[in-house]
Amino acid sequence: MYGGTFNPPHCGHVHAAEAAAKELRPDRLIIMPAGIPPHKQLSPGAPAPEDRLRMAEIAFGHIPGAVISASEVKKTGKCYTVDTVEELRRREPECSITLLTGTDMFLTLQEWYRAERLLSLCSVAVVSRGSEDDPKILSGQQQRLKKTFGTDVIILKTPPLPASSSEIRAADPGKDPSVPAAVRAYILERKLYENAIPDDVIRRLKCAAEETLSPDRFAHTLRCRDEAIRLSAGRDADRSVLEAAALLHDITKECSAADHLKLCEKWNIIIPQDAWRTPAVLHQYTGAAVAEHVYGMPESVCRAIRSHTTGSPDMNETDRILFLADLTEPGRAIANDPHVRLVREIAEKDTVEACVEQLAYEIRRLTENGKEVFSVTLQACESLKERILSKNLEEKQ
Ligand SMILES: [Fe+2]
Ligand SMILES: [Fe+2]
Repeated sequence: MYGGTFNPPHCGHVHAAEAAAKELRPDRLIIMPAGIPPHKQLSPGAPAPEDRLRMAEIAFGHIPGAVISASEVKKTGKCYTVDTVEELRRREPECSITLLTGTDMFLTLQEWYRAERLLSLCSVAVVSRGSEDDPKILSGQQQRLKKTFGTDVIILKTPPLPASSSEIRAADPGKDPSVPAAVRAYILERKLYENAIPDDVIRRLKCAAEETLSPDRFAHTLRCRDEAIRLSAGRDADRSVLEAAALLHDITKECSAADHLKLCEKWNIIIPQDAWRTPAVLHQYTGAAVAEHVYGMPESVCRAIRSHTTGSPDMNETDRILFLADLTEPGRAIANDPHVRLVREIAEKDTVEACVEQLAYEIRRLTENGKEVFSVTLQACESLKERILSKNLEEKQ
């Protein structure tokens, strides 16, 4: 059994599994992507468990005897190896289990949760790090585990292939050659790892907003952030992306028309014709460009900023949450307006319907007052309505 977060699985993992398959010739090589690992938190913005499972299937599926197990991934709450091994044993009392580990894990096995029980239920195979590992330390641990727990330890002979998931994540998992090509393709297709924004970057964005904005605007920004984070719970939206987008959403709100123009010239920002006639919406376009060019934010952040006042036809969950949080954050002067209260109520259940409610209201209000409605707002409202219709249809079928 080979467990790990596989976040993402890399060639070093695959190589270790191949080595074990070759040298140990097990009936089955169970690859066990961890659910919530007990020894560490997953990195912020880590792919959903189903995506890690799928990546493991792609990475290890070709190995003879490999079976990718979903049993840890499916569990809620912390999950310990000893529980998984006990469960395997219960289901198949006759089987003998070998735990495949790297050197780091191997050297700390005696500290694992219920180590005594775990090490009485299985033997251990270690993929050493070759010359990096002192053979004396490995054989010392081998003897210690045998003496203390009666555990058999096999040290695999195949030289390892060094790679590190955390280094890969820090670079670019979709392009890193130490990630198998098919896994990279999956990462790119699913846009995994594009969303995580590290905490220190978030802190810097908060300082930047505080320095740039008036106290009132900054206070609104923080309330909008809190509301966005609250709305993101249990939804398909990355918290760190929303946090960054909310902190920067009004970053150019207090700019003059001349400043907006300068920014547009500097970065060649395309602003729809009708938006030029309403200065209040310019900041969503220039704000998105500042987020990109000044703060290096990914497109997931910029696109949410770019549609936070007018909406846009292809709004995703993150975009919708920022759009709504900006309106429904509790400190706004209009917070008790019956319409805003209604939008807030709907947003608790469905962000698509809440956005339609707000966009349709805005369209009505502008039309009744003889004002121009942005084409992008009309398109946003129509496309979201279509989504509701097709979802209703799907549910009926
Ligand atoms: Fe705004
Ligand atoms: Fe705002």
